[in-house]
Amino acid sequence: MSEYFSHDVLVIGSGAAGLTLALQLAEHGTRVAIVSKGQLNQGSTYWAQGGIAAVLDDKDSVDAHVQDTLDAGGQLCHEDTVRFTVENSTASIQWLLAQGVRFSRYETDRAEFHLTREGGHSHRRIIHAADATGRALSETLSLNAQQHPNIQLFTRHVAVDLISKRKHTGDKSGDKSKDKRCHGAYVLDRDSGHVKLFHAKITVLATGGANKAYLYTSNPDGASGDGIAMAWRAGCRVANMEFNQFHPTCLYHPKAKSFLITEAIRGEGGILLNPDGERFMPRYDERGELAPRDVVARAIDHEMKRLGVDCVYLDISHKSPEFLLEHFPTIKARCLELSIDISREPIPVVPAAHYTCGGVMTDKHGHTDIQSLYAIGETAFTGLHGANRLASNSLLECVVYGSAAAADILQILPNFNPPPQAPHWDESQVTDSDEDVVISHNWDELRRFMWDYVGIVRTNKRLQRALNRVGLLQQEIAEYYSNYKVSNDLLELRNLAMVSELIIRSAMDRKESRGLHYTLDYPNQLPTAHDTILTPEHTAKT
Ligand code: FAD
Ligand code: SIN
Repeated sequence: MSEYFSHDVLVIGSGAAGLTLALQLAEHGTRVAIVSKGQLNQGSTYWAQGGIAAVLDDKDSVDAHVQDTLDAGGQLCHEDTVRFTVENSTASIQWLLAQGVRFSRYETDRAEFHLTREGGHSHRRIIHAADATGRALSETLSLNAQQHPNIQLFTRHVAVDLISKRKHTGDKSGDKSKDKRCHGAYVLDRDSGHVKLFHAKITVLATGGANKAYLYTSNPDGASGDGIAMAWRAGCRVANMEFNQFHPTCLYHPKAKSFLITEAIRGEGGILLNPDGERFMPRYDERGELAPRDVVARAIDHEMKRLGVDCVYLDISHKSPEFLLEHFPTIKARCLELSIDISREPIPVVPAAHYTCGGVMTDKHGHTDIQSLYAIGETAFTGLHGANRLASNSLLECVVYGSAAAADILQILPNFNPPPQAPHWDESQVTDSDEDVVISHNWDELRRFMWDYVGIVRTNKRLQRALNRVGLLQQEIAEYYSNYKVSNDLLELRNLAMVSELIIRSAMDRKESRGLHYTLDYPNQLPTAHDTILTPEHTAKT
């Protein structure tokens, strides 16, 4: 019989979203378990560079931040969600400060925080910790969680699937997910190889994005869309999965795996050059290098294809070495390791998959379609980002919705009884795999066709090809899954294939080009904007 745990709240994921929620619950006496599939700081949060967008300057305003978010989002953001998020931005930064996060201050006036600028922002409003904001945030919140007596941490524990049961509510609406309740999750202990049972009154998905679906990505290992896939399998709707954001500038070097060059470099005056030294962005957009990300990434993609080159260049060498050291110490050091001196020469860059704008559908408190199941952070779709996320709005979303979900849970938790006993994980029918090459081969194939067929520029034909391929892979994966013991690699592959199908289907449903979704078959934008919503029960299987 497998090991069994029971908590008030199970949080799956230890990034900005999961830690914010866990700390705010624990403060009020709630017993929280956090499971995290690697070490605590393995998610995207740790790698965030630019910072957190918030209204912190007297000359800035909620209205201006809201408007910039709406403009970047291609008329698809939910305005009430955007306003709610921005209105809570100052309080979110105050909370992080109270937790002990140390943000950069002006050299000249140490009392004031230095605010930087990024694409699509009309003001300097990005609070940051030099170029390693995520590290500052992740280390501080992780330490606080480790020291909190009400939080129990389970690292190297991978959630496999949610435990959800149908209730008998008499709901006649026909929507089967509405009468389901989540009772926790099955979780693989990577060290023992056994699957444990985690019961909880409330379960929260805070598992980050799905950018490992693409061959080239800024994301760390583990961004395999697990929360989205688990929620979908349990019966939740997902929305806007076609809007995968490609960051325009990741370091291009054979030895640089997934290293981002922050947009703040462009915010501080960096310019993009093609290999002939021509500054090309003004030809594409009057905002030049500070146009929103979808525009800049597409322009770079176009230049690379037009000139048949492997990368373009980002030049910040006109700034003094002292300025670069103060603002971009991590990037300066990493580039120097690869013999690129950013104070003397331009940085070779390419676009790479960066952020999942779509996700599990939630409301402003993180509720999903299933009772007692919440989703927050990059896993969730709140309506904030529309067709293209505004830079540095993501960490903000993690803190705002982590806090909103915690407040909601604190209110309802006293009414919840412990869940009924669920069956233990059955391993009696499976054996150890002797063919792990199947996993690595399918993983490579998936990420390559997603890059080639479902990337920055799409067509109907490419999408159909990708759908056929993903269907075949899923059949193989399902067979493998039912015959062999689960492993982290197998679980990630299974989830990535699932989420890739959702990305492809959503892209096929959108018969226009908008924001991050650009297709040669429908190059124009339709007059009315609508979300792409997929419902498990109504989506045909490949
Ligand atoms: P993550 O931080 O990704 O955490 C996910 C957690 O879930 C991890 O702990 C992971 O191990 C765990 N997990 C996943 N699946 C499972 C499972 N099955 N079982 C158990 N645990 C699981 N945004 C900004 O706003 N500003 C920035 O400056 C910025 N810079 C960025 C730079 C880089 C290089 C990257 C990659 C992203 C950047 N972003 C930035 C985006 C932002 O960092 C992320 O969107 C945000 O950190 C997501 O936080 P999260 O808590 O939702 O997920
Ligand atoms: C960056 O620093 O360029 C990343 C910011 C973001 O993804 O919001």
